[in-house]
Amino acid sequence: MVTVPRQQFVVRPGGSLSGRIRVPGDKSISHRSIMLGSIAEGTTRITGFLEGEDSLATLKAFRAMGVQIEGPDNGEVVVHGVGMHGLSAPDDSLDLGNSGTSMRLLSGLLAGQAFDVELVGDDSLTGRPMRRVTEPLMQMNARIETTEQGTAPLRIHGGQSLTGFDYDMPVASAQVKSCVLLAGLYASGQTCVHEPAPTRDHTERMLAGMGYPLERQDARACLHGGGRLQATGIDVPADISSAAFFLVGASIAPGSELLLEHVGINPTRTGVLGILQRMGADIEILDRREVGGEPVADLRVRSAPLHGIEIPEALVPLAIDEFPAIFVAAACASGRTVLTGAKELRVKESDRIQVMADGLQTLGIQAQPTLDGMVIEGGPMGGGRIDSHGDHRIAMSFAMAALRAADIITIDDCANVGTSFPGFVELATGTGLELE
Ligand code: S3P
Repeated sequence: MVTVPRQQFVVRPGGSLSGRIRVPGDKSISHRSIMLGSIAEGTTRITGFLEGEDSLATLKAFRAMGVQIEGPDNGEVVVHGVGMHGLSAPDDSLDLGNSGTSMRLLSGLLAGQAFDVELVGDDSLTGRPMRRVTEPLMQMNARIETTEQGTAPLRIHGGQSLTGFDYDMPVASAQVKSCVLLAGLYASGQTCVHEPAPTRDHTERMLAGMGYPLERQDARACLHGGGRLQATGIDVPADISSAAFFLVGASIAPGSELLLEHVGINPTRTGVLGILQRMGADIEILDRREVGGEPVADLRVRSAPLHGIEIPEALVPLAIDEFPAIFVAAACASGRTVLTGAKELRVKESDRIQVMADGLQTLGIQAQPTLDGMVIEGGPMGGGRIDSHGDHRIAMSFAMAALRAADIITIDDCANVGTSFPGFVELATGTGLELE
């Protein structure tokens, strides 16, 4: 298991953000590029790959299963695909660190292999719910053991004949949807997933881009097992989830103007834009284009007075990773912001409702956690010491909060920022954040 050194951010209050930056590559697309590239036929060349610990955990897992992968070198990775049945048993457990996406998607992809494998992770990942993937997989005839609590380690027994089925997902989760579809590649007959609300569709887009027949209608995606994937080039756009910290930082800090280049604006990911714009943010979407089947644009953000809103529940799955940053925006807005329908936030890398409410209260903000969301009254923010609970997005959100705080904000346990955003400190200080 990886032991992560403790790291602290100390952020001086005030200032503004300016400049032109490209945040690192999209985490979701980076994971999938390695997974699908590995089981494709031919050579997949990836550019813009996220060299963060999470996507590197996926890369290492496939290397351990015999896939030859070159790089990453400045975001470039070359995956020599082994075909649908070319993976081999790893010598050891696969350690997926902090990465829920690796564990949930791999459990589906590995359920249909000929060999046994064990998936392990760090303390945070080991506490996260895995029955949401093991239950549907077992309905497909997979054999997987979890702890009694339904958590990792996951022991996946190979050599099972998976059968396709029709799955009505109880939670709007792209990880669960992707897991079932990846298992469906190895199942007999048809596998369909129905989602209660739209969730990110990178798996479906990439499967289609690699020539795998897939039917999509409204909230359902279906595929037949037994097909093949053809290698292709993949250009990973900048991650809108990483851009979100800068969208919020520049919105709340008077005098800011930032241009965020080449950001993925897949409509299943742009909830943060909709929410911030409803709050009065000044964000322009420039030079829309399509790169490798994913929409991309440059985003110009200027500071603007924000006001509180009731966040539409339909936007919740489309902004699911951005709420820590959105809560900071709400704390700096005039009036009340109400979030409901977001219980999922309690089972992310930390309980993001409780941890954010505690941190905002430390800074003097009235933030009332509820079962499935939060009520925040915008107001003046002081400084203080925040525990990020090892959650990368909590740490980066409170770093941005300092732009509007009256005093220094110290954030503990920040090493995991490297899971999704290597180089955050350099990029943030380069635009004007006073972070040590
Ligand atoms: C992800 C899906 C989301 C998100 C996670 C990445 C993915 O999880 O929170 O960071 O790549 O599929 P859920 O789909 O479980 O909400």
